Amino acid sequence: MFNDDYQRKLITVDQALGMINSEDNIVSALGACEAQYILSKLHNISDRVRNVNVTTCLPMGKYEYFMNEENKGRIHMDGWFYSSDMRKVHDKGLISFVPNHLHLAGTKRLSHRKPNIFIGSATPMDKHGYLSLSLSATYEGDMIKNADKVIIEINPSLPRTFGDTTIHISEVDHVLEVDLPIPALPVQDLTEKDLVIGQHIAQLVEDGSTIQLGIGGIPNAAAAALKGKKDLGIHTEMFTDGMVDLVLSGVVTGKCKTLYPGKMVATFALGSSKLYDFLDDNPSILIMNGKWVNDPYVIGQNDNMVSINTTLEVDLTGQCCSESIGHRQFSGTGGQADTAIGAQISKGGKSIIALYSTANVRVNGQQQRVRISKISPRLSHGAAVTLSRNDVDFVVTEYGVAELRGTSIKERVERLVSIAHPDFRDVLMTEAKELGLM
Ligand code: COA
Repeated sequence: MFNDDYQRKLITVDQALGMINSEDNIVSALGACEAQYILSKLHNISDRVRNVNVTTCLPMGKYEYFMNEENKGRIHMDGWFYSSDMRKVHDKGLISFVPNHLHLAGTKRLSHRKPNIFIGSATPMDKHGYLSLSLSATYEGDMIKNADKVIIEINPSLPRTFGDTTIHISEVDHVLEVDLPIPALPVQDLTEKDLVIGQHIAQLVEDGSTIQLGIGGIPNAAAAALKGKKDLGIHTEMFTDGMVDLVLSGVVTGKCKTLYPGKMVATFALGSSKLYDFLDDNPSILIMNGKWVNDPYVIGQNDNMVSINTTLEVDLTGQCCSESIGHRQFSGTGGQADTAIGAQISKGGKSIIALYSTANVRVNGQQQRVRISKISPRLSHGAAVTLSRNDVDFVVTEYGVAELRGTSIKERVERLVSIAHPDFRDVLMTEAKELGLM
């Protein structure tokens, strides 16, 4: 019975593209669950459409429809989270950023505009007629409920996951069979500096805590440093390779969790094939709706919740810019504020921001790089405040830990300067005085 329904819904990529018309709003599934085949061909319709909008979050592919200037005015992308390719082509005018806290991204977008079409990918159907949306339940379920048309690529490479990822074939209008590798994030080798930062973070994480690890190199280093801990739990936006290692080494048991004890909770997963294999048919992990997982009040129901995120720049009062370099959008807010606020609501919780003390950056597009302090007297002109200074409990660099909880601006300056790179401490203190922070 379900097979007949499935067969009736089967279409080709050209049929899928033929359903897209001018002014349509398309929402694409997040990250590794995007409809790779349709997106790779989307530019083919650009000569017959105008103002098609595609809303995405962390797209993994380098798709012609947003990379090629010729599609301007025909297909436009709005992103909840920029990828490196989006950064590269931003100036061509085909894309724009949608400010959001991840847990409200879908809800607020729906109040702004409903999708005509949702495109995503899922595992093959089971005997009960169910497909698994696999690696993300962040906003996909809500978009599927609200879209006029739902087109799903069925990809056997995807892991079958549990939680809010299950949808029934009756909720889908069309399916398209593909067999494509899952987009992966390369696992980066840890540097000496990463290991030191990881050790500082590990000092702050007590046995039995529930952790969230953000996106970026440092949260992965933190995972490696937590290998000596006992009975950790996981309630996180993004499930990562570092977490798999913690589970396999017996550190994560979820025994002390006060919300979903024994289970790991996430809203999406992104990483290597090792991570995807681990998630496949694994009932210990629940991939749940992002508006629930990342709701700070839900996060706060986990006692001893520790959020561990990283940033691009922190000022001497503790404000963090984690998503832009000056005015230029770099990534997104994602769940940084969601998780940091949730950790503070939690009994015994801690919100941690960890960063390298310096970065080697290109100034004015020059080839040569200049070393700057990532702890700065003030955020760069145009920087987006991703995390308010009110929501940072600890800042960690390779030079130590600055606890900001309950501190005055004067104390913050002293503590943050003490974990800045030694070459910048004097100038930071001088500027803090000039700005009247001391
Ligand atoms: N000024 C200018 N450039 C800077 C900078 C600064 N203060 N700090 C870093 N950079 C540059 C680096 O030099 C690097 O440039 P390169 O690629 O040319 O070498 C680039 O920015 C990226 O820095 P890096 O430290 O490698 O970033 P990352 O990949 O570890 O990601 C964030 C860090 C902050 C961008 C990422 O964690 C993020 O987007 N966070 C917001 C969302 C979030 O935290 N969500 C949490 C839940 S998942």
